[in-house]
Order: sequence, then structure tokens, then C-alpha cells
Amino acid sequence: MPPTATAGAALQALKAAVIARTGLAYYADKDAALARAVAGRLKHLRLADLEGYLPRLKPPGGEAEWQELIDAITIGETHFFRYAAQFDALRDLVVPDCLARRQAERRLRIWSAGCACGPEPYSVALLLDHVFGYLLSGWEVGILGTDINRRELERAEQGAFSEWDLRDLPEAFRARYFERAGRGLRLLEPYRRRVEFRLQNLLDDGLEFARRNQGQFDIVLCRNVMIYFDPEGCRRLLAALHEALAEDGWLIVGHAEPHFEIANLFQPLSAPGTTLYRKQVGASVRPARPVLPPLTIAAPVWPDPTPGPVPSPEPPPPVQDTTTPPVAPPPAAAAPADPMTEVRQVANAGDWPRAEALCLARLQQDSLDADAHFLLGLVLGQRGDPAGSEASLKRAVYLDRRFALAHYHLGMAAAARGDAAAARRALRNVHDVIEPLPETTAVRAGDGLSAAELGGLVELQLGALEARR
Ligand SMILES: C[S@@+](CC[C@H](N)C(=O)[O-])C[C@H]1O[C@@H](n2cnc3c(N)ncnc32)[C@H](O)[C@@H]1O
Repeated sequence: MPPTATAGAALQALKAAVIARTGLAYYADKDAALARAVAGRLKHLRLADLEGYLPRLKPPGGEAEWQELIDAITIGETHFFRYAAQFDALRDLVVPDCLARRQAERRLRIWSAGCACGPEPYSVALLLDHVFGYLLSGWEVGILGTDINRRELERAEQGAFSEWDLRDLPEAFRARYFERAGRGLRLLEPYRRRVEFRLQNLLDDGLEFARRNQGQFDIVLCRNVMIYFDPEGCRRLLAALHEALAEDGWLIVGHAEPHFEIANLFQPLSAPGTTLYRKQVGASVRPARPVLPPLTIAAPVWPDPTPGPVPSPEPPPPVQDTTTPPVAPPPAAAAPADPMTEVRQVANAGDWPRAEALCLARLQQDSLDADAHFLLGLVLGQRGDPAGSEASLKRAVYLDRRFALAHYHLGMAAAARGDAAAARRALRNVHDVIEPLPETTAVRAGDGLSAAELGGLVELQLGALEARR
């Protein structure tokens, strides 16, 4: 006879202990499902019945068996880019808003609470890289995935997934971020490193973690976790997530789980196909309309230099006339295939002086390199030289009138110094350049940014300019 997790007092005792420890009230009326889930443990331990199993959960040594049991009873259904509308909202609203609010600190923290084997936090990491990579250079981005199931977390760290896990992954992501591994695919190592995974019980040490990290997170995803909890468990968890979120931080829950307590703590905001929640601070009620991000998405808050036309119709002044004092070029080294690759790497590491020196060295070799002017413009912006930045960006668009990203950054620069008309003109230039392109076309110097994605950013910025009129 196979071992059985018999009904009766032992099962009721186990159920009560499971719910008290994990919050999984889901099992309250699912005796058969719990019995099935625990049957594997009985078999493994060669136990005939649950009466013999319960003592194994007690000290000493009970903790290890608890972990085995939890690994067996939690439900880890997940996949990459699950609920596409929520990832669209992250791309179009939530991340741009966070980028704008965190310009000064250049720090972004995201928590995937109940992440199972990792597709949720990894999807966020890939979205950030693919759409916002070039904007986030030099930022400190922390993505944390936590779960109560240790085995799921081990899988997450390995980053190996089945075709089924990747069923909603956009094709461009598959080719760029994964390698074949057996019958499935493995996330490439540099991207695996972008998420930190930790074992955590959201209703136990997770509550303490939220308290210790008060106001630290810009975005918390807690999707398809609370559906397994009872109302009191949800209430405690929501209060903790509220505490962990920064002022105006965003909470994203699964479609099926708006809880009455959410409305008390968070401001609901409608986005296409989904509802998002924003931390409410104090008693003030904000209008229930989509939030349009401020205009500083791609640029630091710049001081107020003299306004100028965008883009400049004049030919570019010689490079040595730049307002930035010349910086000694770095010592000669083996040149990478694309001279700008090294600039990007150095800029990503936040070494702006060296990035500037590399750009200037490149321009001494070829003063007509539009990419070098463009990157120099971004670097000078980071170094607090808005006039020099704008001059370099103008050179880039003079050399290539179809340089959409350079127009875009000129628009951001104009908006930052308060010239909304010039900002609108530059953003319309972007639109004119990308409109005839197929949506998936990678834009020049965009590090994988597609024409459609840049178009979305332009719409967002034009909307924000309208809202400010
Ligand atoms: C259905 S999965 C959701 C995965 C992912 N958030 C998504 O929506 O695709 C639910 C996850 O919540 C985890 N979980 C359940 N109770 C938990 C608790 N008390 N603390 C932390 N994680 C828990 C489970 O282990 C499981 O991996």
C-alpha cells in the first residue's frame, strides 16, 4: 500500500500548522490537495501515515522538514511577461515616472515579492535593459526576488527555462538575452546577475524586511500571491508593502486580487488593460487619472542656460571650439572594433571624465562621427554642462538629420530649461524620422531601443508637455 496522508485529526493539525506558518489559507477547504501534496514527503521518509509525520516538523530538526514541505505545497505557476498589459504599463508609465523622480539619486529599487522561479523579476530586468538601458547607464539598479520556496529560488538562480516558461517572451528578447540549453533556454549570465534572490516568508521575516527597508522600493510586484492568503494575511502583507515603498512608489498586484485594504492604502490608477496602485501619503487624495511623468526622464535637471533653436541649422563649429575644456585623451590601448563601445562601457560604470576623454579622443580622429558627438552630449549632460551637452547633440543632428535619439535628447534638454516650444519641435522631429520606419527598427545609438519604443517615449513626453500648459 502507498503511504497516505489520511483525513482526520492529523490532517487538520497539519493544515492549521501550514496556514499559521505560511499564510496559505488556500488549503483551508482543500484537504485532498494538501494530502496529495504531502504524500510525496511521506513516501520519501518511508512513513505510513501523517501521525508519524507531524513530529518530524518539531524541533530539533523540524526546520529542514518544514522547508521540504513548503517546497512541496506552494504553487509556483509563472512565466515571462505574464499579463503583458502590466509590463506595458511598467514601460509606459511606471518606469518613466521612477526615472524622473530618481534623477538626483540615480537609484532604482524593485522587489518581486513571491517571485517563484524568477520569470517575473527577470522580465523586469530585461525590460529595463531593452527599453531603458541607455537611460540607466551609471544608475544603481537593484532588483530583488523573494519567495518562500527554496527549490524555486534555486531554479531562478540557474536561469534555465522551458519553452513554455517563455511562451509570452517577445522574439527580440529571446534572441538577445537567451542561449539554448538542452531542450530549453538559459538566460545569459550578465542578466542573471541583475536579480538577487532571497528565501523569505512574506508573512514572517518578510514583514520585518519591509520594516527595515522602509521607503526603499520604487516598485513592488506582488502578483498572484495574495490569492492564496486569507483577508488578515493580505492586510498584514499590504501594510508591509506600503511601508517598504517609497513615497509615490508603485504596487502591482495580479489581476484577480484587488483587496479591500488596497483602496485604503493606495491610489488606484487605470492604465490600458490593468489597474496599478500608488502609495498614498497622508490623507491627500490625488486625481484618479493616469500619471504623466515629469519631463526629466532622460536628462538630469539642468540649470537655465540661454534658450536656442532646436535643432541648429548652422554647420557644426570645429570640435576644439567646444565649451568643455579639452581633456587629455586616455593612453593608447588596443582599440575595440566599435570605438564607441568602450565609451558606453565606461559611461555605464559611471566614469564620466574618462567617457568624455574617450569621446574627445575619437573626435580628434574623426570630427564627423555623429555617434561620438551624441555620446559626448550625453556625457556632458551627466557632468553638469548643459550648454556643452546641447551643442554636442546639435552637432550630431547636423551630421545626421535622421538621428532620432539626438533629436529626442535635444527635446529633453529644451524641456529641462523650460522651452516647451523647442521641446515640442524636437520631439516632432523624432516622430518625423521614425514614422516611416518599421516598428522593430533599432534606432541609431539606442542600444536596442526600437522605433516603436522611442515613439512611445515621444508620445509620453508630448503628453506631459500638454499637461503642463
Ligand atoms: C503563483 S506564484 C506567482 C509567481 C509570480 N509572482 C507571478 O505572478 O508570475 C506564487 C508564489 O508565491 C509564493 N508564496 C506563497 N506563500 C508565500 C509566503 N508566505 N511568502 C513568500 N512567498 C510565498 C509561492 O512559493 C509561489 O512561488
